[in-house]
Amino acid sequence: MRIFSAVRPTGEIHIGNYLGSINQWIELQEQHDCYFAIADLHAITTPYDKNALKDKIFNLAVTYLSLGVNPDKCAFFVQSKVREHTELAWLIGTIVPVGELQRMTQFKDKSKQHKEYVNAGLLNYPILMAADILLYKAEGVPVGKDQKQHVEFARNAGEKFNKQFGECFPIPEPIIPTNQANIMSLRDPEHKMSKSGDQKGCINVFEEEDSLRKKIMSAETDTGKEIKFDLENKKGVSNLLSIYSAFSKIEIPALEQKYEGKSYAEFKKDLAELLILKLGEIKKKRDSYYKNPDIIFDMLDKGAEKAREKAQKTIEEVKQKMGL
Ligand code: AMP
Ligand code: TRP
Repeated sequence: MRIFSAVRPTGEIHIGNYLGSINQWIELQEQHDCYFAIADLHAITTPYDKNALKDKIFNLAVTYLSLGVNPDKCAFFVQSKVREHTELAWLIGTIVPVGELQRMTQFKDKSKQHKEYVNAGLLNYPILMAADILLYKAEGVPVGKDQKQHVEFARNAGEKFNKQFGECFPIPEPIIPTNQANIMSLRDPEHKMSKSGDQKGCINVFEEEDSLRKKIMSAETDTGKEIKFDLENKKGVSNLLSIYSAFSKIEIPALEQKYEGKSYAEFKKDLAELLILKLGEIKKKRDSYYKNPDIIFDMLDKGAEKAREKAQKTIEEVKQKMGL
């Protein structure tokens, strides 16, 4: 399958992002033809600091590469370095109805959130995203639930193009992680772990050891004693078991057995040490990249080159089909 996905260069990455989304990229790159982009052109549709953008892109690239995105197994690049994205966005823009854009949930939310900055780019966000996907003739698009509507939009755009101008694009399917992949806040296991929620409930992938230990040890559990996966009655413990299982690759029933008769404190202590070990390996990789930033720029350039090759072919085909 050909796969496309992208991520906006925003702030820090927490273990929920890692387990729920980045891990999916890492698994998919093993078996599929993957194109992964840093969506800087999407990032500028909401207010941003132009002096900080380059650093954000660089930091995101370092983080993803440290976590396991492998440039030998996929094309990993910065969206704005492949001009064909904007070119195809223009072409696609001429066949999609404005009404559909105005009905997008994200457009409505963001235009309320940034009343002073409702720009045409924000309205056209789904067109650029459809172009991202269609440019590589992607068949699968790993995204979070919140982006499903945009993938739907890309499907409609692809179908419409094929009908109007002749078969060109496969119709992409969203690949949504199952609910179980949701990592919950350590403080409030009713809600997803998130950057914007309680910081004490959120573990960054580069969290310092002391703070990581504190966060795990003070994670909410319940008044019981048993270490059991039970989403009805033991949301906190279940969440910790999910995290433990994801990082150790030990199945949950085996963990339940291992901790039978043991205390929450013992279980949490082991979990904290496991995370320190696993995230420590990732931190080491990050530090070595920071010492050699040229390696990152080189990888991104090569990724863009690989992407461009495919992108140019699609653009030629599309222009020809459209009579340009
Ligand atoms: P966000 O940081 O909310 O923009 O999300 C970026 C990606 O990470 C999306 O694909 C989300 O589905 C995923 N994600 C965010 N938070 C979590 C979480 N707590 N558990 C699992 N996946 C998450
Ligand atoms: N809009 C996506 C987000 O906010 C990022 C993105 C841009 C994307 N282009 C894409 C995701 C194409 C999947 C496919 O997270």
